Amino acid sequence: MLNRLALKIGLLFLGFIILIESVLFLTLYITFVNERVDEVMTNLLARGNTHSEVLAGSFEPATLEHVALMESASDFIVIITDAAGNELIHSDSIEPEMNAVLEHTDFDEIVHEGEIVEERWNEKEFIATDSPVTIDGEHRGHVFMFAGTNQIQQMVSHLRNQFLAAGLMALGLTIITIFLLSRFITLPLIRMKKATEQLKSGNNKVKLNIERNDELGELAFAITTLSSDLDRLRNERNEFLADIAHELRTPLTYIKGYADIASRPTASDEEKAQYITIIREETAHLTELIRQLFELAQLDHNQFEIQKEEFSLNVLFQSVVALVRPAFDEKKIELSIRCDPAIIAFIDPERFQQVLLNILDNARKHSPEGTRVTLAGGGDEQRTWIRVSDEGEGIPEKDIPFIFERLYRVDKSRSRQFGGSGLGLAIAKEIVESHDGQITLESEQGQGTTVRIELKRGESDEESSVD
Ligand SMILES: Nc1ncnc2c1ncn2[C@@H]1O[C@H](COP(=O)(O)OP(=O)(O)OP(=O)(O)O)[C@@H](O)[C@H]1O
Ligand SMILES: [Mg+2]
Repeated sequence: MLNRLALKIGLLFLGFIILIESVLFLTLYITFVNERVDEVMTNLLARGNTHSEVLAGSFEPATLEHVALMESASDFIVIITDAAGNELIHSDSIEPEMNAVLEHTDFDEIVHEGEIVEERWNEKEFIATDSPVTIDGEHRGHVFMFAGTNQIQQMVSHLRNQFLAAGLMALGLTIITIFLLSRFITLPLIRMKKATEQLKSGNNKVKLNIERNDELGELAFAITTLSSDLDRLRNERNEFLADIAHELRTPLTYIKGYADIASRPTASDEEKAQYITIIREETAHLTELIRQLFELAQLDHNQFEIQKEEFSLNVLFQSVVALVRPAFDEKKIELSIRCDPAIIAFIDPERFQQVLLNILDNARKHSPEGTRVTLAGGGDEQRTWIRVSDEGEGIPEKDIPFIFERLYRVDKSRSRQFGGSGLGLAIAKEIVESHDGQITLESEQGQGTTVRIELKRGESDEESSVD
């Protein structure tokens, strides 16, 4: 079945091509016919002129007879008259139409050159020319030449038939070409439509075998890429959900277990207090996990309003350090700031404070006593950078590529001990990226870790530099 799009394209093309073909064929046909008719007329006139020239040399009965005799053997008819229009001789039998031509000739008017006197080939039986015979400037007679029009008509109808046949052939070929062409254009489109329908109904593994280098090929490629992206996203989502379920189940199992033990009549008050402390800790961990998940979800939906402003990096560092200092002191880790007070970044300070808190929290958790953590910042015309480096345990090389993924932790069991859920760096990355910035991590096991954030110079800086 011809599909609707193919039909539409086909009909549109067909309409245009028929129009163009008709105009072309008609023009060609008219030109052809006119040229052929002109040729016949010119020949007839030339023949009449030749006779009149011969007669101008000798306007004798013998010559007249000779001319008449010659034409009686030809397809043409000649009538020779004197200057007053009286017939002197004729070659074949005279038809009434020929007399009409003679009657309509104004013999008082002196013509000097041969002319066509009847050219209506499609109405009359004959076309006619009139060539005057002039001897020494004196007008002596007329040579009327006649040619039957049926020959012309035959030729024209033959030509018409040929044109019709050619036209029909062209039309047939056009229809076939358009049919093939429209299928060629629409078939891939229909396959792509089916593929997107499959995508909609949940089948994410569509494969389009459309090997083309044009826009349709690009579209097919885009659909295939989209389908695999969608597939990947769905898998990621499922994995993520499974991970979250796991994350939530573990503390809940603890809570339930300890609550059960604590409610046993045999449990001493001391034991009860201990279990309740564990339950508290686990509940706090759960609350934190849920808060972070919620934050990530908001970041994902761009519901997090980023309110950028020009903010001194040094001031930001100071406020973050003031918050974390007690925890660092407790673990005897030295925390220092290296930043030129003049450095201004175009950021949302609250969000960035959170980024730094997450990174510093990691540095503290994974550094032994007596080491140093440095918070450094700087910038030039194009960018602003922040660097947090520690001298801690570092991260194995194989884990580094996944470190910013949600719920990813190097050592799950140990990380739990610190209360980590593997969301801190994922949140930091989302926030940095929503600032159009980049966050990277370098680490060497046993040596330490450095997290680097790079931001382009903000819009407001650009604006002020334009001014
Ligand atoms: N400075 C660091 N030194 C060593 N390991 C690190 C460092 N920073 C991050 N990591 C490793 O990367 C993992 C992911 O860090 P991330 O901050 O995303 O999660 P988390 O700290 O485990 O949990 P959360 O931050 O959500 O409380 C950590 O579990 C840890 O194994
Ligand atoms: Mg963390």
